[in-house]
Amino acid sequence: EQNNKRFPEGFLWGGATAANQMEGGFHEGNKGLNIADVLPGGKERLKLLMNPGFNFEIDEEKYTYPNHEGIDFYHRYKEDIALFAEMGFKAFRLSIAWTRIFPNGDELEPNEEGLAFYDRVFDELHKHGIEPVVTISHYEMPVNLVKEYRGWRNREVVTFFERYVNAIFNRYKDKVKYWMTFNEINSGLMMPIMGLGFAIEKEEDKYQPTYQAFHHQFVASSIAVKACHEIIPESQIGCMIIFAPVYPFDSNPENVLYAHQEERLFNNFCADVQVRGEYPAFIKRYFKKHGIELEIQEGDLELIKEHTVDYIGFSYYMSRTEKKEKTELEKAQGNMLAGVKNPFLKASDWGWEIDPTGLRTSLNKLYDRYELPLFIVENGLGAYDKVEEDGSINDDYRIKYLSEHIAAMRDAINEDGVEMIGYTSWGCIDLVSASTGEMSKRYGFIYVDKHDDGSGTLARKKKKSFYWYKDVIASNGEK
Ligand code: BG6
Repeated sequence: EQNNKRFPEGFLWGGATAANQMEGGFHEGNKGLNIADVLPGGKERLKLLMNPGFNFEIDEEKYTYPNHEGIDFYHRYKEDIALFAEMGFKAFRLSIAWTRIFPNGDELEPNEEGLAFYDRVFDELHKHGIEPVVTISHYEMPVNLVKEYRGWRNREVVTFFERYVNAIFNRYKDKVKYWMTFNEINSGLMMPIMGLGFAIEKEEDKYQPTYQAFHHQFVASSIAVKACHEIIPESQIGCMIIFAPVYPFDSNPENVLYAHQEERLFNNFCADVQVRGEYPAFIKRYFKKHGIELEIQEGDLELIKEHTVDYIGFSYYMSRTEKKEKTELEKAQGNMLAGVKNPFLKASDWGWEIDPTGLRTSLNKLYDRYELPLFIVENGLGAYDKVEEDGSINDDYRIKYLSEHIAAMRDAINEDGVEMIGYTSWGCIDLVSASTGEMSKRYGFIYVDKHDDGSGTLARKKKKSFYWYKDVIASNGEK
């Protein structure tokens, strides 16, 4: 009789982060400015950034910039990695800040101080037997490439990216086996500025530049896959997408069709190209409909076809419920992916609907379509935490959220036959929120004493979930 509680041997349990949200040291080691460095703190940050008038300058009189200090991982990485090791982490997902390696993005030679920093971090991880899982680009484009080149709209950026990936693959070939190209690549459909590095000036002008920029990223992604396989033969390199399954609001066939179309466009388009190596039929039709004519250079499509990813990394936070005709009132609040409220689900304090079964559905949908190993590289609950008088932090809500999602993953593996590499929960140590710049939106097993107004000692503290996750890992998910 099969044990239905088991996870595969060697399953990569761990946590996930991104350089810009935790490192700080934003000027140290000759680092250049990236998009997150010019992003003010506060709930309005994404609106500000998406405003075509945004100038990508720092204005300290008007705003605060939480990413500048982050949680000071740049100086405290040894302490933090020791805490991850205490929890038993098998893997730690982090990103390399492009601007530590190429401060302006367009230099010819990499910056030695930046390269040396990640050497120290990877060595420290290996000292504790933790496998680094590295995102090459996590919403961290050099500001210079945004200002001078208009981000991924410009083909030249592919060349700069190629230089960057060659530098890091050559440098870290003995230290990093798991890679990912672009974080949540499909977010470019929603917020082009974060992923694609440019703002849309007028809604009707979005189509051509957005998909041209995507084409450049797909070429860049295949260049990275090719180089990774050549330079580090035993490596695995994946894509990374946001996956939020789209449910029809009801059985009205119009809504079923609409949900399917939305899901295909948002969830599948990028992975289709990166996994199958081809633009799918539906998107070609969509290009025609919107008058999109991609500039494709000789050899691009062959490159994309030949150098597809080894696994699918994805983030899962919520599902999305769709209705073809929706009123303002029905719209789900806070859910960046829009949609309508799902009457069966409760939402987090930030309006993100909590849906563990949706994770099992996502794993099934992804595996049915691609039959590639899956890696959940982000999942977690952003919540307010309270430090009690005795210093304890009793985050039972986080434990509940994570254990329900882990159980859904276990069932997808054991009951549905989905193949998985690992699970790294988001923000394993509290860090700066990407969408709001808040510290109070916490995800961690480790509390960081830093607050929205910038105050705090930066001291680290174990939450209740720290001990819980340690048990999960020690029992390989059986507990
Ligand atoms: C993902 C991003 O979208 O969600 C992370 O890859 C981000 O960078 C995470 O932090 C959670 O979002 P937020 O806005 O709560 O930080």
